[in-house]
Amino acid sequence: VPVALATPALVALGAAALAAGAVALDRRRRARSLAAVVAERDRAATELSRRLGELYSLQELTHVLSSSLRLEHVVGEVARYAMRFLDGAGAAVLLAPEEGAPLRVAAAEGTLAAHRNVTVELDRGGLALEAITRERVELRAAPDPAGVQLFGGVCARSAAAAPLKAHGVTTGAVVVADRATGAFGMEDARLLSTVATHTAVALANARLFDLVRRGKEQWEATFDAISEGMALVDDADAIRRANSAFAGLVGSDVASVVGRHLPQALFGERRALADLLEAARAGGHAPALVRRSDTLRRVLRLAAAPVTRAVDEASVVVVVEDITEQQALEAQLIQSEKMAAVGTLVSGVAHELNNPLTSIAGLSEFLLEQPRDAAPEREHLRVINEQAERAGRIVRDLLTFARKGPVEFQPVDLADIVQRTVQLMSYDLRQQGAAVDVSLAPGLPWVHGDRYQLQQVVLNLLTNAMHAVSTLPGDLPRRVRVAVTRDGPRVSLEVADTGPGLTADVQAQMFSPFFTTKPPGEGTGLGLFVSYGIATAHGGTLTARSQPGDGATLVLSLPAVPSGAPESPTHAAAATSAARGPRRILVVDDDPIVHRVVAALFGRDGHRVDAAVNGADALGLAERERYDLIIADRHAAAGGEPLAAALARLRPELHEQLIISTSDVRRDTDEQTATGGPRTLRKPFDLKELQAAAAAIWGSGASL
Ligand SMILES: Nc1ncnc2c1ncn2[C@@H]1O[C@H](COP(=O)(O)OP(=O)(O)OP(=O)(O)O)[C@@H](O)[C@H]1O
Ligand SMILES: [Mg+2]
Repeated sequence: VPVALATPALVALGAAALAAGAVALDRRRRARSLAAVVAERDRAATELSRRLGELYSLQELTHVLSSSLRLEHVVGEVARYAMRFLDGAGAAVLLAPEEGAPLRVAAAEGTLAAHRNVTVELDRGGLALEAITRERVELRAAPDPAGVQLFGGVCARSAAAAPLKAHGVTTGAVVVADRATGAFGMEDARLLSTVATHTAVALANARLFDLVRRGKEQWEATFDAISEGMALVDDADAIRRANSAFAGLVGSDVASVVGRHLPQALFGERRALADLLEAARAGGHAPALVRRSDTLRRVLRLAAAPVTRAVDEASVVVVVEDITEQQALEAQLIQSEKMAAVGTLVSGVAHELNNPLTSIAGLSEFLLEQPRDAAPEREHLRVINEQAERAGRIVRDLLTFARKGPVEFQPVDLADIVQRTVQLMSYDLRQQGAAVDVSLAPGLPWVHGDRYQLQQVVLNLLTNAMHAVSTLPGDLPRRVRVAVTRDGPRVSLEVADTGPGLTADVQAQMFSPFFTTKPPGEGTGLGLFVSYGIATAHGGTLTARSQPGDGATLVLSLPAVPSGAPESPTHAAAATSAARGPRRILVVDDDPIVHRVVAALFGRDGHRVDAAVNGADALGLAERERYDLIIADRHAAAGGEPLAAALARLRPELHEQLIISTSDVRRDTDEQTATGGPRTLRKPFDLKELQAAAAAIWGSGASL
């Protein structure tokens, strides 16, 4: 299309040709009338100025089209210019998204403006579709106003339509309707064709741009959707691009992350990651790296890979995964598995020790109560009894500690937990030369919680305090003060030590997972992290304070159980001998030694003690005889159900006469009575406990 190449040079060429025509005219001047000459010149001048106008307008359109890549803008401008160039009353641009699909009126001006955005089915494509299918400009005129079908039932008296074709593909049509002065002519066809060619190229560009932009957006969205942090870094380790996960990880936004030094941003130092990045640049695949970032207080897994084609000058892509929680969970799992294994071993041994200890403690106590033994050996006996009781306490503590089960929230006595834990650690504390001072306020309310988790917290705090004082030079005092106090509606535990105290830096980080100042292998850095979690789960707080050089104080504060709930256990006063008259007692235990101890204890007062080695025998005896007291091992069963249940079925009142002896610590004596189950005695029980329990039963007046 010639006009498509129009430039100012061509305009000059046109002017020159016109001048040449004027010379030829001059030669035949005499043969023609002056009027004709004037008319011809006028016509030529008009034509020239029209062409010039067209050229300028086309130039303007070209400029407008090249200044925008937005599709809507491009088609809008085209419709306006086409209407103006061809002097039409209206114009429209129709686009065909793909072959066979309906046309869409992408832009419409003048009398056609109302049809903007209308969808046109192909069978009603009219002149627009004709231009598209024939791939040429179509002109049409009719005498009546509705003579020419433009598209979608829209009519006009005259119309011109040109296909939009670029790179061999026809993508739509431009239509101009109702020329102001008569029908559209060949000149109009030429002009419209030029406009259409320009438009098609601009549209193709806009489409391509749109495609690229959408592709870019899609990739960016994908990049951002990945939960791992990703960053592209250049040869100087500066970040060229990063996704939102990465920005979130370093606590910033994507825009401000760009340009930062990657190792600096992640680890606060420039030399970090050097090996990883170097290996990636060398094209190798270095194994992923797991490192703790002190700056971010997170544990990160990092992998790097070379970028084969330069992307924003970046040479390496780094993937950063935050594995802090995952690692903490794994470590916790390992720890709890370890604890479970130790627990199984410990509880097995402790169970086995229970009966021998019960007999040593019980029988030595029994002997001590015999008035005839006034010999000097009596003192040895007292030591045996004391030590057996001490061994019994250790066994109980071990069982308490070893137990690992589901978390059970119930009212518990924090003071008791503290006392037991201090006892458990007393050997270690002595080894470290640490003096422990325990102060428990009287009448403390209980707290709602899981005894074993709380014990873990106390253990962690004590261990840390012990470790802190053990680092002191020999001449400095090594003291740990443990205090449980009431603090309004809360109960507070304070563990204070005379160790080196906490620096501001340590204080800021001590509760985060894996933070430890201990040498590798000595501390996991989980103690306080786990304790903090437990405190929070109990609706409590765990805080630290420290005066430089004056040791550290860790405070656990828990909400107290509202008054009305049980207070600290008041151990039943040991009754001396509540028995009036001989009683009948049944002992159910597969270990004859238990029978022997109980028989020795009660036989002294003239009571009669029978023995059954299993639940079935016991049930048989209970059917025939009347007992004032039945002491049964927790595991004794009859007919597939626990002995307690079988006895209750036999005679409901027996429930009142029953004491369950157990090595389990799952349910305490106190909890048991609180829940209305039978009384429980924990093995190894001592004489006083047994007597007190019996007195409580007989004192209640029930007797068969
Ligand atoms: N009483 C204390 N005095 C001084 N520093 C303490 C004290 N308690 C804790 N810290 C500091 O807090 C860090 C974290 O304690 P945390 O109990 O979480 O881990 P850890 O004791 O190092 O290891 P572990 O997992 O074996 O308990 C310790 O390494 C230590 O630096
Ligand atoms: Mg610790």
